[in-house]
Amino acid sequence: MDLDSNAIDYVLSTTRSVRLRLDFEREVDPQIILDCIDIAEQAPTGGNRSSRRWIIVTGKSQKEKIADLYLKAAGNWMIQARDQLAGTGHPNEKMMESAAYLAENLEKAPAIVIPTIIGIHDNSGKPGLFDSVIQSAWSFCLALRARGLGSAWTTAVLGEQDELKRILSIPDEVTEIALLPVAWTKGTNFSKVQRTPAQDISYFDSYGITFEDPSSSPISFSDGPGVSVEVDIDASVSSVWDVVTDINFPAKYSDEFVSAEWNDQTERIALGSKFQGKNQNENIGEWTVECTVDAYEEKRVFGWCTGDTSSPGARWRYELESFGSSVRLRHKALLGPGPSGLTRIIEQHPDKEEQIIMNRAASLKANMVKVLQGIKDYLEI
Ligand SMILES: Cc1cc2nc3c(=O)[nH]c(=O)nc-3n(C[C@H](O)[C@H](O)[C@H](O)COP(=O)(O)O)c2cc1C
Repeated sequence: MDLDSNAIDYVLSTTRSVRLRLDFEREVDPQIILDCIDIAEQAPTGGNRSSRRWIIVTGKSQKEKIADLYLKAAGNWMIQARDQLAGTGHPNEKMMESAAYLAENLEKAPAIVIPTIIGIHDNSGKPGLFDSVIQSAWSFCLALRARGLGSAWTTAVLGEQDELKRILSIPDEVTEIALLPVAWTKGTNFSKVQRTPAQDISYFDSYGITFEDPSSSPISFSDGPGVSVEVDIDASVSSVWDVVTDINFPAKYSDEFVSAEWNDQTERIALGSKFQGKNQNENIGEWTVECTVDAYEEKRVFGWCTGDTSSPGARWRYELESFGSSVRLRHKALLGPGPSGLTRIIEQHPDKEEQIIMNRAASLKANMVKVLQGIKDYLEI
């Protein structure tokens, strides 16, 4: 059979958490749900043992009890959060509107499916227990989507697991994984959403090592090597922003960066602002490089490139992502494509290019980790 990768990719990338567009008026034949479970059961399972059990709730009174429990576990909180966020333009406003809608209407879903697995996740050396059910439950969601039905992966009710077990007579030694409302969707067009690009979250050969333009091995400078490190900081986005835009701050923690000075002290930092960065290390000695701010989005991205702006020696980035009361701070260094101390060393030892790149990346990473940890410690005290 020829595989239609476009159709498959479309289903894979548009299987959303459907809540507002679940059609509560249209009946769902339980046979469709069983067909989707048959497909989901093709997912891998540890030891090739069949240990997944699926509870399909269609009875009115059972659905009502589960809907009440969902409200108690988190639904009431979602409704409150929806009301607080309404009209604020907060990034979670839409998601909360949709989550609260599901909480208010769960009992209207034609079916509620609860995938479970025989076993208890008690860290007692049963690796693969959950890994044997999650992929299968997700295949179930994809199979629904391929047929014009939808669901939303929810776990809120698991906060009331004992009561859920009691309502559904689930044995103690069985674990519930998620609660999936199932209905036909109103329309079948769903969109892709913006997610972090693979290049930013995929590391080659070692955690934190990136390549902008990876080719097959051996690793070379033209692959665009880089380093990406990150830390979660319990602090406001403004305070993290203030620290990352203080160009001298890293000197307190880095073994390589010594100091920096703006060319024009009176200038407000903006795209094109320039500073001189002084560094030293045992392989290259001491050097000063002109840096130009080439990425500036208030409280989101601050970055500069070294040397010639049309072909920089390196590009440095701080990226801030806010999560409630904390910030995930990512620090990246992208090497090249222009000349630098690194390219000079590679020119002297072309046969050792891969090793030189990986060594340089490892030493940059060590310093970047120190700087991020320093920022975290400074802000969390
Ligand atoms: C582990 C997990 C738990 C979730 N729990 C809930 C939940 O309890 N209630 C809910 O409405 N959505 C829940 N969601 C759905 C997320 O809110 C949703 O995936 C996210 O907003 C992104 O939307 P999308 O799936 O349409 O891309 C959960 C998702 C995951 C992966």
